[in-house]
Amino acid sequence: AKLLLLHGPNLNLLGTREPQIYGSTTLAQINEAARAQCDAADCTFDCLQSNSEAALVERIHQAYADKVDFIVINPAAFTHTSVALRDALAGVAIPFIEVHLSNPHAREAFRHHSYLSDLAVGVVCGFGADSYTLALEAALKRL
Ligand code: DQA
Repeated sequence: AKLLLLHGPNLNLLGTREPQIYGSTTLAQINEAARAQCDAADCTFDCLQSNSEAALVERIHQAYADKVDFIVINPAAFTHTSVALRDALAGVAIPFIEVHLSNPHAREAFRHHSYLSDLAVGVVCGFGADSYTLALEAALKRL
């Protein structure tokens, strides 16, 4: 089976970015842990972080061509803005889990709406870097 982990804008700054909200774990550490989780489950792992909506949309299209079985995505700020990411995920019809380090529902009102959640298999938020571990565990169980 094949799993793709996607990270949206500004998540390359994890570790230094608002650590009181997002914690001190770096993106490299998150990807390393995710890769280990997939390796242990005999699942192929690939990941991409991009600050560009276009690059993420194109990676999702590529996932269809590559026969990716499951996507785990932290869309970051695009969660609240991107019809294009929503349409890409709907278009390829690959099951996905939406992840957030913080709990957007406990934050500003503009973070309460997600363009993706109603299409997701599920949403994991509020557990810091553990949100990824929990989402990966749920994804791997479904493969
Ligand atoms: C985030 C929450 C979003 O509201 C925010 O724009 C992010 C990160 C999270 O992981 O908590 O960039 O997706």
